[in-house]
Amino acid sequence: MDTFMEMFRHHPDPAFLADKSGKIIGWNAPADEMLGLPYSPENVDLVANKGVHRFHPSLNELFAQCIQRGAGSEQWVLPLPGDMGKPHIRFIVTPIQKNTGVSGAWAVCPRSHEDRDGVCFTPENPVVRMLSFLTNMIESTVNGIVVMDPRGKVLMFNKSMEIMTGFASEDVVGIPGGVDLFYGWETAKRNMKLMRSKQYGRPGILNMVKTELKDRDGNPFPVTLSAGIMFEDGQETGSVGIFGDLRESERLARELRSAQERLIQADRNAALGRLSASVAHEINNPLSGILMFSEIMQRSLKDDPVYRDDLKEIIDQTLRCKAIVRNLLGFSRKSDNGNEPFDIPEAFRQCLDIVLPQAKFQGIEVKCDFQPDMPKMQADRVQMQQVFTNLVLNAADALEGKGLICIKARHDFESGYFFMEFRDNGPGVAQGELEKIFESFYTTKPVGYGTGLGLSITQDIIHNHGGTIGVENHPEGGTIFTIRLPGPKIKKES
Ligand SMILES: Nc1ncnc2c1ncn2[C@@H]1O[C@H](COP(=O)(O)OP(=O)(O)OP(=O)(O)O)[C@@H](O)[C@H]1O
Ligand SMILES: [Mg+2]
Repeated sequence: MDTFMEMFRHHPDPAFLADKSGKIIGWNAPADEMLGLPYSPENVDLVANKGVHRFHPSLNELFAQCIQRGAGSEQWVLPLPGDMGKPHIRFIVTPIQKNTGVSGAWAVCPRSHEDRDGVCFTPENPVVRMLSFLTNMIESTVNGIVVMDPRGKVLMFNKSMEIMTGFASEDVVGIPGGVDLFYGWETAKRNMKLMRSKQYGRPGILNMVKTELKDRDGNPFPVTLSAGIMFEDGQETGSVGIFGDLRESERLARELRSAQERLIQADRNAALGRLSASVAHEINNPLSGILMFSEIMQRSLKDDPVYRDDLKEIIDQTLRCKAIVRNLLGFSRKSDNGNEPFDIPEAFRQCLDIVLPQAKFQGIEVKCDFQPDMPKMQADRVQMQQVFTNLVLNAADALEGKGLICIKARHDFESGYFFMEFRDNGPGVAQGELEKIFESFYTTKPVGYGTGLGLSITQDIIHNHGGTIGVENHPEGGTIFTIRLPGPKIKKES
């Protein structure tokens, strides 16, 4: 027996020992690892009385049967409920003979298929092949599959569930409360109730519903669930749930919604363009008339203090109307300038020459930082100047007479893009309004002072040139608009 115990202890494969009644009374070190339970008298009791979740409880039965037969080794393949990665586990059970008869049995669990003679269950065996096929199928399916026993203990947790939730099957299978980690016991119970009702399919079936799972960090995410109760001989043996990850499709739906919103906005702009073209045309001429006659009257009455101020007001308001009309025309009219290459700093200077003399710029400093060797930009110069002017005027309005506007422009030779920045140190844009400021007619300016078209036109012009425009509140205060426009790709000479 000593020699036997030596052999038992040093056996390289997991080995188990049973007494004469078939009760497990010990195991060796490799079996510690397999059970996840070190050998100790308390653990022996645990295994003998309760079984161990990673083992089929019928190992005890195998021992008992083998002892009863009393001769020869037998090979058995038992399903491993806790580990779907290995569809089965093979035991070679041998009775221990003493002079007085059979005194117990021991079982070895070879780790590989190559290490034994007289194999019963080779990988070619149809049962093993079927098991491997089914396991492979379950592991390869895109949907997450979870099998639970009637008390809610997880028996199977496939690969897709691992990917979806970030939990490994060892974290949840057979673990008390395992289901709570990824599903939420309350949700599971609620869905079980639905499954037993007729609400979503016949009783015992839950046709697809939307529910939530939790990932490893406890973040909930949306999934579809269809489930069914499993029966064996009329007895409920568990349930199987099939989960579909909805995160990607919900992200795509969100993108689609925002693309639709952009389309609606573009459509609104196009309609506005058609309308404004006709209205602006009709209004522009009478406005020019009012302006011309008011200026004539102003000149004739320049020494009359009563009418001089009134006429100045008429002229100012008429100029404002003309500005609105000009903005509306921006929606429909392309300038005649075409896409001749132009010098960016030069175009900026022309704009600044026009806007800086205005009273609102008196207490405002404008700093320009242009990359010296910037190539020319091939774009509609007049439209680009409209963009620059809109942004500079907006910044000045935000500064309300005092502050700093920084304008930067550079060209990235490798990507070929022009990058421009318009930053002011004003109050910034109110929280939650940033997304709205490009919408047509969005303005925070008093009636008569802003049409709310400036940025909408600006965005249209930039998009029509294949570029992008973004806005942010600068962390150090103020607003920053960034523009990216395609330009020439040039290999810089070294
Ligand atoms: N630099 C900025 N700082 C703070 N708010 C800004 C800035 N630029 C734009 N805004 C906000 O965006 C709104 C829309 O700007 P937009 O240029 O489209 O219209 P507007 O300036 O009000 O009128 P207009 O059509 O005459 O330009 C402004 O009313 C303002 O509230
Ligand atoms: Mg504006």
